[in-house]
Amino acid sequence: MHRPLVAGNWKMNGSKSLLVEMATAFRSRQPAACDTWLLLPSVFVESGIKQFSAATVQVGAQNLNWRLPGAFTGEIDASLLKEVGCRICLVGHSERRQIFGETDDEVVKKTKACIDHDIQPLVCVGETLLERQAGEAQQIVAGQIGALMEALTAAQMASVIIAYEPIWAIGTHEVASADDAQAMHAEIRRTLKDFYGPQCPDTRLLYGGSVRANGVKELLEQPDINGVLVGGASLNTNEFLEICNTAAVAV
Ligand code: 13P
Repeated sequence: MHRPLVAGNWKMNGSKSLLVEMATAFRSRQPAACDTWLLLPSVFVESGIKQFSAATVQVGAQNLNWRLPGAFTGEIDASLLKEVGCRICLVGHSERRQIFGETDDEVVKKTKACIDHDIQPLVCVGETLLERQAGEAQQIVAGQIGALMEALTAAQMASVIIAYEPIWAIGTHEVASADDAQAMHAEIRRTLKDFYGPQCPDTRLLYGGSVRANGVKELLEQPDINGVLVGGASLNTNEFLEICNTAAVAV
């Protein structure tokens, strides 16, 4: 049984003062029974790592370049992240896939770059509204997971965390129902088991998309949902703490 994991993704938001406010609040109020991650804009990662004690909140990045160090102006690779103490990174968020054209192939390369540098990747998958309406949601997600499985051994997959974030639920206040989310999580788990067989790792699966303190309990009570990936609500110290507190007692 996994401890619940609550991961906050600030996206291209936040400030130094919010970081100080949150670090101060979590120092005294972080619930012990919940693993908490905060995925920050890259300029805040190093100071975030210093401000939060890793025992309470692990701070990491939202993206990386999969290439080896070299002439790639403006990019950040896994060795640079590691240099500042970063041990966790989001990979393949739908905003990167949709806005920046990130392909399954690049998501796989980024995931491998993380694993090769002992950075734990949190890989996002999910379908658009049109794909869901066309009845293709499972097929789309299976394709995204399939690209990962084809490239990773069971031992490599063991360090991967997967977040199912239906794109239509991101930033829309339209949370997937606990039943729909559970159904997709169960399907992801079955897909992993079918592929890896007895070596299949007990992968942590998170739900993301308009998660708020209100509603998180029901999501985490589902047997295949091990945590949540939180966007907007992770920018509000009290709400993010409330989500962590709720998660700590929900599982
Ligand atoms: P919201 O919680 O703002 O919908 O964002 C979800 C998300 O994309 C987290 O990665």
